[in-house]
Amino acid sequence: MRILIVGSGGREHALLWKLRRDAPEATFHVTRPNGGMAGECTPVDIDPGEAEQLSAWARKRRIDLAVIGPEGPLAAGLADRMAEGGVPVFGPTAAAARIESSKAFAKELMAGADVPTAACEVHTDPDRAAAYIEAQSGPLVVKASGLAAGKGAIVCDTRSQAAQAAREILGGAFGAAGRRIVIEEFMEGEELSVFCIADGEEYVTLLPSQDHKRVGEGDTGPNTGGMGAYAPVGLATAALLDEVGERIVAPTLRALAEAGAPFRGLLYAGLMITAEGPKVVEFNCRFGDPETQAVLPLLSSSLLDLMIAAASGNGLGRQAPTFARAAAVTTVLAASGYPGPYRKGDPVEIPPLGEGVHLFHAGSATGPSGLVTSGGRVLAVSAVAPDFAKARSASVAAADAISFAGKHFRSDIGWREERRRRQIRQ
Ligand code: AMP
Ligand code: GLY
Repeated sequence: MRILIVGSGGREHALLWKLRRDAPEATFHVTRPNGGMAGECTPVDIDPGEAEQLSAWARKRRIDLAVIGPEGPLAAGLADRMAEGGVPVFGPTAAAARIESSKAFAKELMAGADVPTAACEVHTDPDRAAAYIEAQSGPLVVKASGLAAGKGAIVCDTRSQAAQAAREILGGAFGAAGRRIVIEEFMEGEELSVFCIADGEEYVTLLPSQDHKRVGEGDTGPNTGGMGAYAPVGLATAALLDEVGERIVAPTLRALAEAGAPFRGLLYAGLMITAEGPKVVEFNCRFGDPETQAVLPLLSSSLLDLMIAAASGNGLGRQAPTFARAAAVTTVLAASGYPGPYRKGDPVEIPPLGEGVHLFHAGSATGPSGLVTSGGRVLAVSAVAPDFAKARSASVAAADAISFAGKHFRSDIGWREERRRRQIRQ
């Protein structure tokens, strides 16, 4: 079997790691692999943005499954081009990927399907946006409708902050992504990431996880792509997940199918667990990073089988994924300066890591003298242990042991889970 993975971040390294375990005999091709993936695959020197070129390559190489990691190529129609060329593909069409690439589309779809989410209005005119904001009470979140690399949402405590954010985004702060903005109510609660694999109709749910977006301990400082994650999450009881399935995931998939855009791939529901129940913060059309690095090491059944069923559009309902009865904590090691301008080219030293510790590369490259940093989030260490506390201490110990100049990481990944466990014990 020949498998192509598009993308070269920590998420894609975790996908490669899991798929290699599922299919040790398969050959793996990866677009411009990072320093950790390079030794585990055949590199494909085509930019993931080159949809025509990449799909022609996949057709010629008779790729049996193309797995598309990042949202950019999906929104640009890479899955469509693969399917047109007869290449089985895991990842939604551009039309279905609008659930992430257009927040305005996602909000309209949710409103039509009665899916709980923050009340909102979509605006394109700064004066009308200002008038709407003036009429609101309570904190607001102002978002660019299009893809803005996770940076397009501004939480505003006051109406004047919100009006300024609206002006800035509509004025081009996030380029074309901000031609339309979504102004929505601020939701209070704990966030939860729920990954569902869908074949257009049916879906299965993976273990829920929790991301840590702020750069500093105690959730302080600027937002990042994600500084760590853990799974499973005590907050996500079976009853809560049933509610998420019935009120959020199933109606959303149904609405997409009815809109002529059935979703085949990974639907990531970013939720706020509020006092009134779970509500959608956003949908993503792909695996989350770094949540994938925490969730996949706990998936004991085959991911490949789920992906093949989803890609072929049937058979998913007959599969029930199974998970290890364990916990995983993922700590991201970031480069000096991240999430601002960061340094590259620092040598990375990796000592032997303990049992149950998986190392996923992201912004790393192999230079003439060995491994060096090449991105903002350099590595992710995921530790799997029988319980949360052990997983966290093993993850922190591994993050400590790896060295490169300017390395920084959060040693409090999963602090909410720890607080929850302390409360249960009391
Ligand atoms: P988004 O780009 O929609 O994922 O938003 C990025 C982050 O902003 C989310 O992960 C939340 O932490 C926060 N956020 C976005 N929308 C809301 C909201 N309506 N209420 C509270 N927090 C929000
Ligand atoms: N971890 C957040 C994301 O992947 O969008």
